[in-house]
Amino acid sequence: MPSILAVESISKSYGSAPVLDGLKFEQRPGEFLSIVGPSGCGKSTLLRCIASLMQPNSGSVRHKGNTFAEPPSWLSIVFQDYSRALFPWLTVRQNVAFGLHHIGSRERDERVQAAVQAVNLTHAIDLYPWQLSGGMQQRCSLARSIVVRPELLLLDEPFASVDAQTRIDLQDLVIDLSRRMNLSTLLVTHDVEEAVYMSDRIVVLSTRPARVVEEITVDLPYPRDQLATKETPDFLQLRHQVYTLIRAQAKSNNN
Ligand SMILES: Nc1ncnc2c1ncn2[C@@H]1O[C@H](COP(=O)(O)OP(=O)(O)OP(=O)(O)O)[C@@H](O)[C@H]1O
Ligand SMILES: [Mg+2]
Repeated sequence: MPSILAVESISKSYGSAPVLDGLKFEQRPGEFLSIVGPSGCGKSTLLRCIASLMQPNSGSVRHKGNTFAEPPSWLSIVFQDYSRALFPWLTVRQNVAFGLHHIGSRERDERVQAAVQAVNLTHAIDLYPWQLSGGMQQRCSLARSIVVRPELLLLDEPFASVDAQTRIDLQDLVIDLSRRMNLSTLLVTHDVEEAVYMSDRIVVLSTRPARVVEEITVDLPYPRDQLATKETPDFLQLRHQVYTLIRAQAKSNNN
């Protein structure tokens, strides 16, 4: 089966500072792929290049074999900073509907309600972002990203600014949404445990300029469970393996 996404040897510099160094990996349709790497190594830059918000200096990004130039409609992105992602003067319903202006009002309403329900925010549909907790705001961002029915969902540290319990609730919600909607999901995280828990495969990056250090298959069964899955020997072994790779990167950077 052809890959949904192929990142083909992309390099990117800001001025004379190289940030991405010939990055190369592929994502299969329906796959949950996580990118982990040291802080500041270029993960957000990579996602911006994939979303075509920015062009790499060399290499290319392909969707089902084809390159593309504009941020495409088959892709949605959720950023870390939810407080700046939502329009404060619009309700949850209006924020979620924002990307659907080209669709008739009846279908638009139905799709908005379904997306809001999928993230368990129906009770808050007419509230404004400033009336919501951080976790609820991030659920609203998720609803806005899935309402356009993307094939590929890009998530850049989406749970980084919420408390620990909200974080694990959001992890389970995103796993569930990805599987139910048959999404291909690309998650950037610095949290090794999160990457192992959520993914089918993990791409480990080096320190800046980022290259792929290793790709690790996560063969843990579904449904995953925050307690049971994390207590299995397979989970612990994978976590150990990924931590060891990241730690080696951090050490090589300090030498
Ligand atoms: N627009 C920009 N112009 C110049 N330098 C930039 C720009 N964006 C990012 N950088 C630099 O590029 C490097 C990689 O940044 P990037 O945000 O991609 O890393 P990251 O892995 O997402 O970091 P973090 O772990 O903090 O989220 C950093 O040194 C950053 O300062
Ligand atoms: Mg980042």
